[in-house]
Amino acid sequence: MKSKNNIQRIVKSLVLASTLGLSSVVSAGEVEVLHFWTSGGEAKSAAALKELLEAKGHQWRDFAVAGGGGDAAMTVLKSRAVAGNPPTAAQVKGPSIQEWGNEGVLANVSAVAAEGDWDNLLPSVVANVMKYEGDYVAAPVNVHRVNWLWANPAVFEQAGAALPNTWDEFFDAADKIKAAGLIPFAHGGQPWQDFTVFESIVLGTGGADLYNKVFVELDEASMKSDGMKKSFEILRRLNDYTDAGSPGRDWNVATGMVIEGKAAMQVMGDWAKGEFTNAGKMPGKDFVCMAAPGTADAFTFNIDSFIFFDQSDSGARDAQNALAATIMEPEFQQVFNVAKGSIPARLNMPREPFDACALTSMDDFVKTAETGGLVPSVAHGMAAYSAVAGAMSDVVTKFFNSDMSAEDAVAAYVTNVMEAKASL
Ligand code: GAL
Repeated sequence: MKSKNNIQRIVKSLVLASTLGLSSVVSAGEVEVLHFWTSGGEAKSAAALKELLEAKGHQWRDFAVAGGGGDAAMTVLKSRAVAGNPPTAAQVKGPSIQEWGNEGVLANVSAVAAEGDWDNLLPSVVANVMKYEGDYVAAPVNVHRVNWLWANPAVFEQAGAALPNTWDEFFDAADKIKAAGLIPFAHGGQPWQDFTVFESIVLGTGGADLYNKVFVELDEASMKSDGMKKSFEILRRLNDYTDAGSPGRDWNVATGMVIEGKAAMQVMGDWAKGEFTNAGKMPGKDFVCMAAPGTADAFTFNIDSFIFFDQSDSGARDAQNALAATIMEPEFQQVFNVAKGSIPARLNMPREPFDACALTSMDDFVKTAETGGLVPSVAHGMAAYSAVAGAMSDVVTKFFNSDMSAEDAVAAYVTNVMEAKASL
């Protein structure tokens, strides 16, 4: 497996570096936490974890790496590992947890999990991702839903447009909003954001069935299907409804455009809600959350979690265990998720503190788990190894930023993904 080899190289260097005396400088009772939560809503959420850990007498050393979606943070994490100085905990999720587990560098937190009864408090779909060879090596903080559309109702009213449930309705509304001199679609032109929008388009076009076939099973015939061609065509049309400032824009800046009424809509996971609520906005009044067009019966899940690196110092280990325990405590799961826009990973949490968007999410998470509409977000590292997801994302971004035809995009997509699959 190519990605495994990469990490193997990193770990070899890590061992070498520690024999040269470059080992971690984390002191007893301290946890150094690498994460990528730097927007207003995200920083507020991360602060909740810091405060709760410090209340237990441990110190939190913050290592935030800016960059939505975490690509920059993952690069930094790998270079820290290469330098023989991994942090105590890092925001890593999905199949990547297995990639790090394969190298034997993760701490086993099963004793903390047993004490906290994690097996009974987590849905098995969540617990399984947190385990490596049967042991807990990660702790989940939340469940984000990715297939959301965020809208500013005042902009719709001004333009005489109706909130869209399908892509046809989306473009009808977008035409009206554009004619009224406003920006229909707030978008940040970064590869992970292009891919976030694209996965929702595929879900809306071909349902959970096509989604699973092309993003999880990597089924060649489905990748060549009309549903994929149609999905690329929809993505292409979106180009006409965003603004000139889109390339390179951060996701939270795009959300800000909807908050301020400069733009009407954004397709983004519910971390965007953290920005609305951080700006004092109320769901149902100042903003609307609704399923991305055509995806009301589905739920793309994205579970944030922290992995823990082996510690030789017993004080650092105690602090690390305290961090793992804190993450799963009800107090943290509530405060953090209310601010973050997500729902708790832990089952049987009180519903009262959560707003209407989160309650919809909670209900749909349970419902779609039964109907088959619950699917892993490929754009957020839940569905495929990073090499495969990267191969997909490259084509999507190249297509979105060129005049490539939908047919050529499908062909490039199949070639890229099959090559990446073969290299695993
Ligand atoms: C996601 C992550 C979220 C949020 C978002 C923007 O991948 O799971 O917690 O931070 O990226 O950075």
